[in-house]
Amino acid sequence: MQNRKLLEKMKDMFKIIRGEIFDFLAESELDASQPVPRFFSEGALVVSAGKVEEIGYYNNIREKYPDVPCEQYSGKLIVPAFIDTHIHYPQIEIIGSFGCQLVDWLKHYAFPAEKSFKDPVYARALAELFVQELFKNGTASCMAFSTVHKEAVDALFEVASGYNMRMITGLVWMNRHGDAALMDDTKNAYRETRELIERWHKKGRNLYAITPRFAISCDEASLELQGKLHSEFPDTYVQTHLSENDQEVQMIRTLFPEAEDYLEVYEKAGLVTNRAIFAHGIHLSDSELERLAKTGASIAHCPTSNLFLGSGLFGLKRTHEAGVQITIATDVGGGTSFSLLRTLGEAYKVQQLQKYALKPFEAFYRITLGAARALHLDHLMGNFDPGKEADFVVLDGAVTTLQKLRLEFLNRTHSLDVESLLFGLQITGDDRNVVATHVMGEKVYVRF
Ligand code: GUN
Ligand code: ZN
Repeated sequence: MQNRKLLEKMKDMFKIIRGEIFDFLAESELDASQPVPRFFSEGALVVSAGKVEEIGYYNNIREKYPDVPCEQYSGKLIVPAFIDTHIHYPQIEIIGSFGCQLVDWLKHYAFPAEKSFKDPVYARALAELFVQELFKNGTASCMAFSTVHKEAVDALFEVASGYNMRMITGLVWMNRHGDAALMDDTKNAYRETRELIERWHKKGRNLYAITPRFAISCDEASLELQGKLHSEFPDTYVQTHLSENDQEVQMIRTLFPEAEDYLEVYEKAGLVTNRAIFAHGIHLSDSELERLAKTGASIAHCPTSNLFLGSGLFGLKRTHEAGVQITIATDVGGGTSFSLLRTLGEAYKVQQLQKYALKPFEAFYRITLGAARALHLDHLMGNFDPGKEADFVVLDGAVTTLQKLRLEFLNRTHSLDVESLLFGLQITGDDRNVVATHVMGEKVYVRF
């Protein structure tokens, strides 16, 4: 009797997710370029209360949990959901805006689009679309830019909370060199940021990022005040842009003549910490890389954006060898796709041009466990160790005719393994390959 009750209870509490299970082991942190993979070809996850209970071979798990309901994804690859460490939610409408490089692109496309987000109804509708687009692409967590409007920040946190997804965002600070409608008074931004931190930081899975747009849009006093906020709330994040474009770097020299280099501008304000993610970092000196490595700050490499805006080729190998943590991110809408699979494909090409072959394990690590680690969230997410939050994406590596042919060929020539399957997804994959996305075990997207 006792036993039957226990079995009944298990049936309600647990769920088995069956498929090919792939992730990376925690010791991958020793060298992000050689992460340690884990793969169960006939595998399963056991999920309970939104967390991973167990990972292993399906047969063993089925034996241990005989009556527990099972979600079948046989023949599909189940990997930790992707983490996009740099993306702009108010730029969803301007992906693929023609012809400009960074400074003009901001002026002609990004700033006009961001103005609309003062309207809370508009912001809410676009936040919903943004989150849906993330899920459709297998991304369950992100660190996102919002706008200078507190209404826009509230909207994104509210929508994210509805799905129980992990959202990191914050009020964008700008007090010069931008559209007049986006200029914010520094004292006002300080007050609103404090209120937003108190309202959202660590509420559910939400986390707050102090967000200077970049040092061109923020004068010294503004940066200093943001550094003060970061020290008042040391477990917040910092997200900003660094050394993306030649013209931008030149403007920084003119605007901050006393600073030795771009990074020093942020250092002086107390914004370079191990909780900072700097987007791009293409044109950095050895000294800047060394200082980033020393503080444990990370760089988000955004290849589709760097190619689209003609910003330059990010030196992944050089940056990694300098000891800097690197993630790979979309940077929508400078970036041209929500798909981190497509983004990994462009990252591969950018590195090929520099004689570095970006292996699929390294690529996928940098959008899963490596990204979680850069965010100091690897004790909660990023792989399927028991106790971690069950955010995962189900991938089908053979959706298009060409993908099917490629896999058949690899099979016939006895060279099909999980690495070659992942590489196919890296080079030819996109949202069509995403079968389903789960957040805390719950399905938030399924492809029909
Ligand atoms: N630098 C400052 N703002 C932006 C932005 O919105 N996009 C990109 N790519 N770079 C920036
Ligand atoms: Zn950006």
